[in-house]
Amino acid sequence: MRLIVTGGAGYIGSVVTAALLADGHEVTVLDDLSTGHADAVPDGATLADVSLHDSGPVLAEVRPDAVLHFAAKSLVGASQQHPEDYWHTNVVGSLALFEAMRAADCRRIVFSSTAATYGEPDAVPIREEAPTRPTNTYGASKLAIDHMLTSYAVAHGFAAVSLRYFHVAGAAHGLGERHGTETHLIPIALQVAAGQRESLTVFGQDYPTPDGTCIRDYVHVGDLADAHLLALPAPAAGEHRIYNLGNGTGFSVQEVVDAAREVTGHPIPVQVGPRRAGDPAQLVASSDRIRADLGWAPRHTDLVGIVRDAWETMRAQP
Ligand code: UFG
Repeated sequence: MRLIVTGGAGYIGSVVTAALLADGHEVTVLDDLSTGHADAVPDGATLADVSLHDSGPVLAEVRPDAVLHFAAKSLVGASQQHPEDYWHTNVVGSLALFEAMRAADCRRIVFSSTAATYGEPDAVPIREEAPTRPTNTYGASKLAIDHMLTSYAVAHGFAAVSLRYFHVAGAAHGLGERHGTETHLIPIALQVAAGQRESLTVFGQDYPTPDGTCIRDYVHVGDLADAHLLALPAPAAGEHRIYNLGNGTGFSVQEVVDAAREVTGHPIPVQVGPRRAGDPAQLVASSDRIRADLGWAPRHTDLVGIVRDAWETMRAQP
């Protein structure tokens, strides 16, 4: 297929672009490089350095068969301090993209949604039927886009899939996490091991979990890429599907630190700080729906393996 990948210069978008190219697709990456890196765009893809708001001419020229939409602002903390940026880039930008799709007669889309649409869960593992009560603007903005897609499917015949990612980690195709402002646990632990930081602060050790630290569901970015390839042809016109994507197994912050120590051989000094606002005790996905509908199954379920892939790719970067 001829594809547009928005955000293809970012972590997940670049890995999925590499997987799409390997699968024989033709890819144009649409990315304004505000947080992405031009050198992360895999060889073989064309880069259009424009924002979502200005996506019309690119879609008119490429006439894609489908769009994979990763481009977004995605930091929970920043979304609380500057909600206007999140409504503007994520929601207004997505609206511009969807209108550009209609103008180019393209109606197939896979969208990067998030576990943050659920907020504090009543029960884990979290199923797609769970109430959506986001606790931050980031999650609210992604939920708004999910709602937009449902209405575009009904009114305009879009064939859409929202993939609700849990904690994406690891590396694939030589591409890993490389954020200007790093807030995620695994890369921070590895930055300590690499000597780029002194220590790691565990945000809260008084949660109602076995070791007192938060439990999260870490899904390997390569498994996530597989899910995008399966999702792309799946929906019919007029259909908007929603799938959770996680391993279905939770690991605590302490277990992640232990895995990073094992992989790197570094002691990774830790201090315990207060809880971070808005962090639920446990976020673990039920991925039963995508397993049943699309036959997706994660291949990398071992935490040490996920952390090792991230570490080896980080070490290989200049
Ligand atoms: N954590 C620490 N110390 C750190 C960084 C993180 O203890 O220095 C803890 C957090 O408190 C949390 C866990 O590690 O319990 C994971 O935190 P991350 O920052 O790695 O991930 P988030 O939970 O903030 O965010 C992720 C995704 C979001 C998504 C969200 C769903 O990155 O896109 O999960 O709630 F919205």
